[in-house]
Amino acid sequence: MGQVLAVTGSKGGSGKSTLSVHLAVYLDDLGYRVALVDADYNQLTSSKWLGRLEHHISVESLEHSHKEHQRIRDLRKKVRELREAHDFVVIDTKGEASTLTDAALLMADLALIPFQPSGPDIWELESTLSAVVVSQEENDGKPDAFLILNQTSEKDSVGREVRQLGKSYGIPTARRTLKRVNAYRDAGGLGTVATRLSDKRSRRHRDAMTALFREILKDYLPRQTRRAANG
Ligand SMILES: Nc1ncnc2c1ncn2[C@@H]1O[C@H](COP(=O)(O)OP(=O)(O)OP(=O)(O)O)[C@@H](O)[C@H]1O
Ligand SMILES: [Mg+2]
Repeated sequence: MGQVLAVTGSKGGSGKSTLSVHLAVYLDDLGYRVALVDADYNQLTSSKWLGRLEHHISVESLEHSHKEHQRIRDLRKKVRELREAHDFVVIDTKGEASTLTDAALLMADLALIPFQPSGPDIWELESTLSAVVVSQEENDGKPDAFLILNQTSEKDSVGREVRQLGKSYGIPTARRTLKRVNAYRDAGGLGTVATRLSDKRSRRHRDAMTALFREILKDYLPRQTRRAANG
């Protein structure tokens, strides 16, 4: 059965969709069987982004017109089915706390929390960390979780504070961070992702993203690339 990776965080614009799309394409390019469920039914950023590039990812999205309990039912059904036939199911969630996001966390093996280390954003972070801890208490310690510092700059001073806050909830912060750079911001508009860029200027940002993924997926990457092995 496949691993469920929920990308979450109750603050808008922290990089959830950017991370979800890059992660899904990275795993797809490695030959794994990958699905993405776009649970941000208002924006559908990940679905739109993936609609602009070549890939083998199964993309599903939740219905804007449904009531919340119907969307939760739909999410559960989709994830249950998709994880049978895929190595990874990535869930991109909305930028606010919700019962739908809680449902995603309860199904997840690994929760990824991109975080933009600015003063106001840290106030929101505790609610995200609490939601993860509630799921862990409900669900035998699952999901594992990582905080990921995204859109960092040399001048950031709150990174250390974030790491300490995460630690106080038992949630580690990835050692690798992602800088605020155009390569990540512009890739969607160019119909691609940063992990597929090979020009000289983008290469180090591509490598930074790849190194981050290797770090956070260390315990999750099956040895065999199953799609390649199964044709
Ligand atoms: N490391 C980065 N460097 C530069 N720009 C970035 C980076 N990460 C994300 N962005 C940009 O920041 C904006 C918000 O990113 P994204 O849409 O991924 O966030 P989100 O958490 O999914 O937002 P929402 O809560 O609205 O769903 C986008 O314009 C994206 O291109
Ligand atoms: Mg988003």
